[in-house]
Amino acid sequence: MTERLLNLKSEVREELKNAKSVHELNAVKARYVGKKSPLQEVLGKMREADAETRKALGKAINEFKSFVEEEVSARLQEITAAEIQKRLESERLDVTLPGKRFSAGRLHPLSKTIEEIEDICIGMGYEIAEGPEIETDHYNFELLNLPKGHPAREMQDSFYLDVVHLLRTHTSPVQARVMQKAGGKPIKIICPGKVYRRDNDDATHSHQFMQIEGLVIDKDITMADLKGTLALLMRRMFGDELEIRFRPSFFPFTEPSVEVDVTCFKCGGEGCPLCKGTGWHEVLGAGMVHPNVLRMSGYDPETNQGFAFGLGIERIAMLRYGIDDIRYFYQNDPRFLKQF
Ligand code: DAH
Repeated sequence: MTERLLNLKSEVREELKNAKSVHELNAVKARYVGKKSPLQEVLGKMREADAETRKALGKAINEFKSFVEEEVSARLQEITAAEIQKRLESERLDVTLPGKRFSAGRLHPLSKTIEEIEDICIGMGYEIAEGPEIETDHYNFELLNLPKGHPAREMQDSFYLDVVHLLRTHTSPVQARVMQKAGGKPIKIICPGKVYRRDNDDATHSHQFMQIEGLVIDKDITMADLKGTLALLMRRMFGDELEIRFRPSFFPFTEPSVEVDVTCFKCGGEGCPLCKGTGWHEVLGAGMVHPNVLRMSGYDPETNQGFAFGLGIERIAMLRYGIDDIRYFYQNDPRFLKQF
């Protein structure tokens, strides 16, 4: 009988060697020491044996049981170690590999230009105002001294949505909106925003572009305030050596009106291809707020004066960065954008 147990031991060893998982180990264990194991046969024999043999068999059975226990737990350790090893290998990380490069986003050149102008103006005490892109004829034209049939309306071919509404053709309607809200109090605002015109898109025209409007209203505001403000703004943008020049012009909402040129920052005014040999760049329109405009939005022109200006953001950005085609701004080509 002890011999039979000895044989069983080598069978157990063999089967444990082939077991690959905890589940299989438990199955082997059950087969050899469980209810249906060959041990039952030995136990059956025990009943017939004499006291001496029974004692010996009992000892042998116990010894066999603990043998199986030990072998199973030894094999369990092996299997667990192998599993850990396998996981370590499959999840191995090469910490010396270079990291994945990801490109950080950045501000669009137009946003950058707006933010710069805003910063400079906030430094001079301006507040930022906003107005709707869908405007009424009333705000976009009438309150700016452009009554129906006024020839200057033709300067701005417009996108009408219905007889009353249109996409604003400039940021100037914000002037009237701010004045009405301020109810006669002093005003010092700028308003950046998108504007729309029925233009055919080419290197210098776009049906949608951006402007910044400026409006200052107070007592005793003069042309000198306008000139000083614009000179400071332009010098901050383009450099301290810059000269500024006012040319008489016409806008229905200002009187007198001017167009403002700055000396070419590339050649310093001598004439170069960028300024087409003139030494100057036209950068904005401006003027003293027309008495009609003040009156229509609740300000008495006898006691209040103001100046206003409007500049094209794309134009400023094109000059600053030397960009020769406005369409680059809208194409979102990363090769263009990542230069800023
Ligand atoms: N609104 C004008 C345009 O779009 C620009 C402009 C000119 C705005 C003179 C002003 C101004 O405030 O005073 O062409």
